[in-house]
Amino acid sequence: MNKTAIYPGTFDPITYGHLDIIIRATKIFDSIIIAISDNFKKKPIFNLKERIELTRTVTIHLKNIKKILGFNDLLANLAKKEKANILIRGVRTIFDFDYEIKLAAINKQIYPDLDSVFLLSSKDVSFISSSFVKEIARYKGDIKPYLPKEAHSALLKKLHNNFLK
Ligand code: COA
Repeated sequence: MNKTAIYPGTFDPITYGHLDIIIRATKIFDSIIIAISDNFKKKPIFNLKERIELTRTVTIHLKNIKKILGFNDLLANLAKKEKANILIRGVRTIFDFDYEIKLAAINKQIYPDLDSVFLLSSKDVSFISSSFVKEIARYKGDIKPYLPKEAHSALLKKLHNNFLK
């Protein structure tokens, strides 16, 4: 049986935290779909096309990434459409769990064949979030430890264009 799993997020931008989960997921499942939410509520600094491209560049070396797509829909509907019945979520700390349990339940209610699988973030990246990284970058802190090099240079370029012109 071919096990296709979907890994969703905003990826604004993709960090080593996301990459940690993606790499480990590719070792467990046959194929992975990375689903990038439009998530306009979060006011992403990279547009959807840029986030897709950046994620593609950073994961290009991984063999069983089936596709990387943008979406503006319920995640459960997208999973159904893509015939993925495993939803991967990275869990960083115990505090993520409360939200994740509710999210898993609601997603399963919408698409009963969808099961959530939780991967524990590796210790050295468990504190990363895209917002933290963007904040550090805005104050000219060192963001190298948190981002793959392509995401690092894209973020510096984006901030330069947005705030320094
Ligand atoms: N390591 C490091 N950081 C991680 C991480 C990990 N393993 N997993 C998540 N993060 C970070 C992300 O960078 C994100 O940071 P940010 O808030 O600073 O951007 C934060 O933790 C939260 O991540 P997550 O919970 O995955 O949120 P998200 O915004 O990236 O994605 C969706 C949320 C897209 C999965 C969710 O909004 C969704 O499913 N939307 C579609 C609509 C829907 O179906 N909703 C559910 C039914 S109501």
